[in-house]
Amino acid sequence: MNILILGSGGREHVFATKISESPLCQKLFIAPGNAGTAACGQNLNVSPLDFPAIEKVCIDHQIDMIIPGNEDPLVAGIVDFVKSTESIKHILILGPSKAGAMLEGSKDFSKVFMQKHGVPTAAYLSVTAETYTEGCEFLESLKAPYVLKADGLAAGKGVLIEADLNQAKQSLHDMLHGKFGAAGNTVVIEEFLHGIEMSCFVLTDGTDYMLLPEAKDYKRIGEGDTGLNTGGMGAVSPVPFADEAFLDKVKTTIVDPTVAGLKSDGIPYTGFIFIGLMNCDGTPKVIEYNCRMGDPETEVVLHRIQNDHVELYKAASSGQLKSQTLKINPQHAVTVFLVSGGYPETFGKGYEISGLDQLKSAKAYHAGTKIDHDKIVTNGGRVIAVSALGNSMQEALKLAMENADTIQFENKYFRKDIGKDLLKYYNEQL
Ligand code: AMP
Ligand code: GLY
Repeated sequence: MNILILGSGGREHVFATKISESPLCQKLFIAPGNAGTAACGQNLNVSPLDFPAIEKVCIDHQIDMIIPGNEDPLVAGIVDFVKSTESIKHILILGPSKAGAMLEGSKDFSKVFMQKHGVPTAAYLSVTAETYTEGCEFLESLKAPYVLKADGLAAGKGVLIEADLNQAKQSLHDMLHGKFGAAGNTVVIEEFLHGIEMSCFVLTDGTDYMLLPEAKDYKRIGEGDTGLNTGGMGAVSPVPFADEAFLDKVKTTIVDPTVAGLKSDGIPYTGFIFIGLMNCDGTPKVIEYNCRMGDPETEVVLHRIQNDHVELYKAASSGQLKSQTLKINPQHAVTVFLVSGGYPETFGKGYEISGLDQLKSAKAYHAGTKIDHDKIVTNGGRVIAVSALGNSMQEALKLAMENADTIQFENKYFRKDIGKDLLKYYNEQL
C-alpha cells in the first residue's frame, strides 16, 4: 500500500516508524512531517488542513490509505471530504467523521453524548453569555475547585481550574467574552473530580474495538508536576494501578457505551478514541475524549504494540477489526521529552542536535526537528521524545534517562522525574 500520514509531531514519527517497518507498506508519505519522518518515507510540504492539496497528493502518489495524526484535520472534516470526493473516495482513511470528531471538537457535545449514553463523567452545565447568571448559580452549587472549559478547540489551553468562587465567576465571564476566542462562546462548567488521572486508548472500526495499552502522561513543565502546562513532557505504559478489574470497568462502563452510542447515533467512527479519565477511588470517570492518539502517549503505547501496524490500521478503517488480535509487548515503556529551554513560553529554534546516532537500546522520536543544510536542528518547543523499553519500569526509566543525556542541543531541558510517582506501586526505589 502507498500510505499518507498527516502531521508533524512525535506521534506521527511513531506512526511513520511502525508503518515503514511493515512489508505491506510500499511507499510512505508524511505531510508535512519532520526530520525523523524523513528517514521513514518522503515528507511532503503540504498542510493537513489544505484538503484540495491533500486530494492532489493522493492522486499523484496513488495513495491507498490515509492516517491522520492530529485532531485538526479530523475536526475540520477530512474523513467526510475524502469519502465524498469522487477522485479519492476509494482510499481508506483511519479516523472519525466530522460528527465523530466532535467528541473532541466540542466539550458540550461530548458531555451531552456521555449523559445520553450513561458514560460516567463529572456533573456539568453548559452556559453562554445569555445564561451567565445560571452559570454563576451552578458554580455556587459546587465545591471548590471549579473547572471551566471552553467548548471548542483551544490548543489544549481552554481549561481553567479556579480555587476561588469569585475568581471562577470572573473567569467564566472572561471566557464567555473572548478569552479563548470563539472556542469560549460556550463554556462547560464541571464538578471537580478527585483521583489519579490516566489515559486509555481504543482502536475501533465502528463496531468492534480493541483496548490498546493504557498510559499516564506528565503535562507540567516542572518536576513534581509544577509550573505551566505543556503538550506533554513524558509518559509511561503500563500504568500500575490500572489492573484487570479497573480496565474491565473502563470497558464495560465507558468504552462499550461509547462505541455503541456512536453507532446508534449514526455517527461514523473509525480510528482512535483517546479517553482521558480519572480513577476516582476505583471508579473510572471520563474527563475528556480525544478523536486521535495522544502525544507523547503514542511514543509508549504504539511502542508496545507488536502487530503489523499496516494490517491493523487497514482492518480498523475497513470494518475488519475482528480479524485482528492485539499483540502487546508486556515490557514497560517510558518516554521522556527533550524540550527547548524556555518552552512552553518563548524559546529559540535552529539549534543543531547531536548524539542521535549514539543511542543505546532506545528510540528517538522526532517532534520539533527539521533538516537544515544536512544537519538536524530544533524546530519547536518539544524537540525529541526518547522512548525505551525495560523489563521493569525502573529499567525503562534508566534507559530513557541515559539516552536523554546522550542527545545534545543548546538549552536542552527534560524532566528527570517521569514515572517516579508510580514507583511506589512497584515497591521499587531509584
Ligand atoms: P481536558 O482538556 O478536559 O483534558 O482538561 C485538562 C486537564 O484539566 C485534565 O487533564 C485534568 O488534569 C484537568 N481536569 C479537567 N476536567 C477536570 C475535572 N472535572 N476534575 C478535575 N480535573 C479536571
Ligand atoms: N498528551 C495529551 C494529548 O495528546 O492531548
